[in-house]
Amino acid sequence: MEYDVDVLISREEINKKVKELAETINKDFDGEEIVLIGLLRGSVIFLSDLAREITLDAKIDFMTVSSYGNSMESSREVRIKKDLEELIEGRNVIIVEDIIDTGYTLKKVEETLKIRNPKVMKICTLLDKPERREVDINVDYIGFKIPDEFVVGYGIDYAQKHRNLPYVGIVKKIGG
Ligand code: PRP
Ligand code: MN
Ligand code: MG
Repeated sequence: MEYDVDVLISREEINKKVKELAETINKDFDGEEIVLIGLLRGSVIFLSDLAREITLDAKIDFMTVSSYGNSMESSREVRIKKDLEELIEGRNVIIVEDIIDTGYTLKKVEETLKIRNPKVMKICTLLDKPERREVDINVDYIGFKIPDEFVVGYGIDYAQKHRNLPYVGIVKKIGG
């Protein structure tokens, strides 16, 4: 497929939003310790920027979950390929995601982590595509609600490409 990438959310808009989200988290967890859990690979850029605006005592851990592979369509069968390194029992956990689409990825992660008895478990996503939701997810911190378009950049890939774009762009098919 031949395609262009059109800017949807600029680097500046993202930076501003990341600061706002971090400020809210700093207030909500004032005086407490938190664990930021990034879902590899899409969340790495967002998590890196967000973590540096957080002034709390914060740990960072990762999980690898995959549903899309190289396809544009969710498989709806989410697999945990790499689990957390640390225990989360009694901790304030914030799951950090780049985007919520069908919701299957976060549903799986939520189910997996809830039974480990964290003190609090919140979800923070940069992007939310509510029109595409197939399973209910309660999201606590949302950067931007976006229309039902295939997006790339700022961590998000299309067949593993474009994760390093400093902005979020829409993939526009060229021709037929
Ligand atoms: C993408 C994205 C989210 C998930 C959202 O990950 O980063 O994690 O899909 O989709 P959903 O709400 O429909 O489940 P992907 O499986 O492509 O892996 P990646 O993060 O390594 O790109
Ligand atoms: Mn992902
Ligand atoms: Mg992907």
